[in-house]
Amino acid sequence: MTGELSPIDKAKFVAAKRAVDFIEDGMRVGLGTGSTAAWMVRCLGELVREDGLKISGVPTSTRTAELARQVGINVLTLDEAKWLDVTIDGADEFDADLNLIKGGGGALLQEKIVATASDQMIVIADVAKEVANLGAFPLPIEVIPFGWQTTKALVEEMLISLDVLGRDASLRMNGDAPFVTDEGNHILDLHLNRIANPRQLALVVNQIPGVVENGLFIDICDVVVIGHGDGKVEVRDINAGTVEEDVIDFVESDNLFADI
Ligand code: A5P
Repeated sequence: MTGELSPIDKAKFVAAKRAVDFIEDGMRVGLGTGSTAAWMVRCLGELVREDGLKISGVPTSTRTAELARQVGINVLTLDEAKWLDVTIDGADEFDADLNLIKGGGGALLQEKIVATASDQMIVIADVAKEVANLGAFPLPIEVIPFGWQTTKALVEEMLISLDVLGRDASLRMNGDAPFVTDEGNHILDLHLNRIANPRQLALVVNQIPGVVENGLFIDICDVVVIGHGDGKVEVRDINAGTVEEDVIDFVESDNLFADI
């Protein structure tokens, strides 16, 4: 079964598998969104079903909520849980300071709220997500549908004063219609190529009326678990300043792949 996984999927899987080692009985866990986070939800589900792990999960999207229920995780809303021990989520890019671009899957708003309401955020990513400078991945910003074209024009005007290498914004589509987030909003993808000052951009863009939130996660992530296609994982803790390496055995998790 595992032979059918591509190296990138193996990398995502081993990162997810290693990250669930952080989860202990009784924890309230934020459950991220995306293909890497889906592996993590499956791994947690296996621990719940087979090892009796007792946790509650707060999903960051309707699709993660559906998967979490399917695999047997007790699902709570953030308002029920109120505060979380840890959130595990993927990322589209991360830099050396563990600042992130997120929102490629369109769930950045719930992801940011849930990660911010957690004692710790652990990012799980394949090694290709590491960058020297954020911005090659288009930066998603969530905007309300009312007047979105005006909001887009204001965002592009704001970008003129910032140190970025590209300034185009595009409305994310879902087929012929604008993409709609779980909150009923749209996404503008900003093609910036390189963001010299992500902290400044994250603050300034949120001042524009119509912008709900942006996909820059600054000073939110504490730990990144980086997966490689050969099973190697690296765990970097930005607060402790530690780096650990491990190798994950695929065979022991064969049943996780059974329905892939
Ligand atoms: C979802 O909105 C995103 O923030 C994802 O966490 C991010 O796009 C990473 O997704 P993958 O794990 O699928 O690469």
